[in-house]
Amino acid sequence: MFIINVNGKDYQSEIDMALMDFLREKVGITSVKNGCKEGACGTCTVIIDGKTTRACIQKLSRLGKKKIQTIEGFTEREREVLVYAFAAAGAVQCGFCIPGMVISGKCLINQNQNPTREDVKQAIRTNICRCTGYAKIEDGILLAAKMLRENLEVPELKQTGKIGERTCRVDASKKTLGTAKYADDYSFDGMLYGKNLFSKYARAKILDIDISKALEMPGVVAIYTAKDIPGKRYIGHLAQDWPGMIDIGEQTKCCGDTLAMVVAKTREEAMAAVKVVEVEYKELEPIHNPQEAAALGAHQVHGEGFNQFGKFRIPQNNLLDHEEVKRGDSKTALANSRFLVEGTFHLPPTEHAFMEPETAIGLPDGDGVRVITGGQGIYDEYHEISNYLGIPLEKVRIESAVVGGGFGGKEDMSVQHQAALCAYLIKRPVKVFLSRQESINYHPKRHAMEIYCKIGCDENGILQGMKARLTSDTGAYASLGGPVLQRACTHAGGPYNYQNVDIEGNAYYTNNPPAGAFRGFGVTQSCAAVECLINQLAEKAGLSGWEFRYRNAIRPGQSLPNGQIADEGTAMVETLESVKEIFKKYEADPNYHVGIACAMKNAGVGVGVPDTGRCNLKIVHGKVHARSSAGAIGQGVQTVLLQVICETTGLTPDQIVVEHPDTKYTPDSGTTTASRQTVFAGEAAHQSSLKLKADLDNGYTLRNLENKEYIGKFDFISDPIGSSKPNPVSHIGYGYATQLFIIDKEGKVVKVVAAHDIGRVINPLSSEGQVEGGVAMALGYALTEDFQLKDGIPKAKLGTLGIFKAPQMPPVVVNLIEKNNTEAAFGAKGIGEIVVVMGAPACQNAYYKKDGIFRYSYPLRDTYYRTPKQEKL
Ligand code: FES
Ligand code: FES
Repeated sequence: MFIINVNGKDYQSEIDMALMDFLREKVGITSVKNGCKEGACGTCTVIIDGKTTRACIQKLSRLGKKKIQTIEGFTEREREVLVYAFAAAGAVQCGFCIPGMVISGKCLINQNQNPTREDVKQAIRTNICRCTGYAKIEDGILLAAKMLRENLEVPELKQTGKIGERTCRVDASKKTLGTAKYADDYSFDGMLYGKNLFSKYARAKILDIDISKALEMPGVVAIYTAKDIPGKRYIGHLAQDWPGMIDIGEQTKCCGDTLAMVVAKTREEAMAAVKVVEVEYKELEPIHNPQEAAALGAHQVHGEGFNQFGKFRIPQNNLLDHEEVKRGDSKTALANSRFLVEGTFHLPPTEHAFMEPETAIGLPDGDGVRVITGGQGIYDEYHEISNYLGIPLEKVRIESAVVGGGFGGKEDMSVQHQAALCAYLIKRPVKVFLSRQESINYHPKRHAMEIYCKIGCDENGILQGMKARLTSDTGAYASLGGPVLQRACTHAGGPYNYQNVDIEGNAYYTNNPPAGAFRGFGVTQSCAAVECLINQLAEKAGLSGWEFRYRNAIRPGQSLPNGQIADEGTAMVETLESVKEIFKKYEADPNYHVGIACAMKNAGVGVGVPDTGRCNLKIVHGKVHARSSAGAIGQGVQTVLLQVICETTGLTPDQIVVEHPDTKYTPDSGTTTASRQTVFAGEAAHQSSLKLKADLDNGYTLRNLENKEYIGKFDFISDPIGSSKPNPVSHIGYGYATQLFIIDKEGKVVKVVAAHDIGRVINPLSSEGQVEGGVAMALGYALTEDFQLKDGIPKAKLGTLGIFKAPQMPPVVVNLIEKNNTEAAFGAKGIGEIVVVMGAPACQNAYYKKDGIFRYSYPLRDTYYRTPKQEKL
C-alpha cells in the first residue's frame, strides 16, 4: 500500500505504478499530460517537494512521504495570475505542453521571484513545445512573476474581439489550467482499452497470427484481426491503399501496419496481451528508397492486388505520382543564361512530434458509433469510418476533442477507425492509444526528397529559367504524397518573375513509414533546395542575396513561374524592404554571417479541387454559437472565427461561443490543411455574420433570435493543373516572406528576422506565435532533426529527434506586412505553413558565408549544433 500526498491530500494505491498514471487515472488529475512516458517531453511535469519532476518516470514506491503539487494545488490567486499572463502573452497554442510549462515556471518563481529570461529558459529546458517557439511562454512566465512579485491585480480583460486586436485565445484559460480535454482525458463507465499489434518488420509475409494464448490473458475481452472488419478494409485520404489490418497470407508494407487489435479492461492488460499474440513472419527485404523502388524488377510494394475496394489503382513501377510544371522554353533560357548554377539536394524525412500522441475513443451510439477524436478533419474520418464499418453515414458521429498539435501529421486516420471498430463490435466504449514510439513509427512524415535543380540568370542577375527534377519517397502508403509532390513542383520556381520552367517530379512507394502532409506541404523541400541555388547564383552574378531577390521578386501584375498572375495584394517586395537595413548591417559586420531566403505558399487546396469553408451561427441561450468543423489544432482558428464575428456584427467576445467540431452539429469545412481555414472558414463566418447583423440592425436581440441559425459558406473555384488558360488561377492567394538567419563566429544562430506578407492580420498575437513556432521548427529541420531509418524502422526516439528547446532558441523579430485587396476573410491569407518553409536554406546560406562549404543535405553538417562526430552516430 502506498500513501501519496497530492496537493495536501493523501491518496492510496494498492499497487506500484508511475506517478503520472496514478495522478491521471486514479486521482483524476488530467492536467498532468502524457506526451511520451519516456521522460523526454516534460508535459507530465509536477512539483515534488519544491522541485520539478517528470511524473512519468517516478514510481510511487520511490516517493515516500514527499509532497506532490500540480496546478490544482495552486492558490486561486496564483491560478488567476497564470491564466492571465499566459493568455495575454499569447503563450498558448495547442496547449498540450502548457500545464508542464506552467508548473516549471511556477516552480522557478517560487525559488526566484525576479527571474531573467535566461532563468526562464533554463527552468523550461526539459519541456518541449512544438508549437510556439517558446518566446511567448517565456513572456507568460515573466509576466506572471512580475504580477506575483509586485502583487498586481489581475486586470479585467476588456477585449472587443475586433480584427487586428491582440485578442486572447478562446481556449487560453482551460489550456493553461490543464482542464481542456484532449482525447486521452475522456473516460467513460465501462470503458475498455484497445491496443494495436504492430508488425515487427517493415516488409514481411504474415504466415500466421495465433491469438489463442493472448485471449487467455487477464482482462482481455476481445482480439480482432483483418477478418473482423465488417466494411471496407482499406482506408486512405485520396487513394484507399492502407489496410486497417494485414491478413494472414499478405505482406506488411511498413512497421506501422496493424496485425490485430487487442481489447482489455485496462491499458496495462491490453499492452501485456499484445505481447502474447503469436505471429509467424517471413521477413523480406524492404524497399529502402525511391531508387530501389524505381529499379527494373523491383518488388512492387502494392503488387499483391488484394485491394479490391475504393479508388485505388495498383501502381506501376512503384510510382505513386508524376507531376509536371512546364512553361516557356527552359532549355533555351538556360542555354542563353550568363550565369548558371546546379546541384542535387538531399532532404530528410521529418517527424511531426506533435506533443499529443494519437488517442481516440469509440462509443456505441444506438446501432452506430460515436468517436471522440484528436484528428485534423472530422468529415474525412466520418466518411472513412462509415466505409470501414460498412454502415451508413447517419450511424456515425465524429466529435473533436481538443487537439494537441497536428502540423499535417493528423490528417490521416491513426487510431480513430480502430476505436470505432472495437466499440462497434463490443458495444462498449473503447479507448485506443499510441505510445510515443508507436506514434513516431506510424503516422506519415514529411517526405524525404532528392531534388536536382539548375537555374540561370543574365548578366544583371535577372532570372531566365530553371530545370528541376524531384524524387519523393512516399513510404508505404499514398496519404497525401501526390498533392505534396505537386505543391513541391508548383512552388519550385519560387516567388520570382520569370517564365521558363521545366519541373518534373516522381513520388515512389517504398517500405518506409508513410509520408504525407507536414507544415509546408512539399514547399519546404523544394524551397530548401532552390533557395540555396538562388544564393549561389546571386554570388556568381556579383550581387548580394538580398539585391538578387529584390531584382527578381514577383510584383503585382506579373506572372509567377506557375503562370498565376500576382494580385495587387502581393507584398513580396515589401517583405524584402522590411529586412533591407538589418541585412546590410549584418553583412557589413565581420562578427556575424547573415543567411537569406524567400518563399511563397498558397492558401487553400486550389488547383481545381473543390474547396469549401463553412461556419454557421446558431443562437443558443442568448449567445451566438459558431459552428464549423474547421479543426482547431493549435493554430487558433477558433479565435479567428470569434474575431470575424465580432468585427462583422459588433458583438463582443463574451456573447460568442465557438463550438468544437462535431458532425452532429458543425458543417463540413474541409480538412485543416493548406493554411486554408482562416480564409475559408473565416469567410464563411463572415457570410453567416452578415446575415445575423442584418437581423440585429433590424432591431432583433439575441434573446428574440433564440434558435435561429445563419448558414455561412464560402467556395473558391480554381483552375486545375494543366489548365489551357495562359494564366491559370491555381490558388485563391499566396503568402510571401523573407527571413534572415544570423549566426555568430561560432556558428550559433543568434537572431532570426522574419518578414511575412499575410494579408490582413486578424490577430497579431497569434500570427507572431505562428511565425516564432515555425522558425523553431525550421531550425530543427535545418540543423538538428535527424530522422534515421534502418530497414524501414525509425531509429529516433522523441528525446533524440533533435527538436529545438528553449535555451537553444534565438530571438525572433517578426515583421507582419499587411497589404491585400482580396475580400475573403477581410483579406487574410493564412500563415500556418509558410513560416517553416525558408528557414533551412537561410541557415545553409549563413553557414556557407561562414566557412565557404556549400552544403547539399539537411540537417546541415558540421555546424555549431552538429559536429562531424555526432553525424557519425
Ligand atoms: S510524459 Fe513524462 S516526460 Fe513526457
Ligand atoms: S502549445 Fe506547446 S506543444 Fe502546442
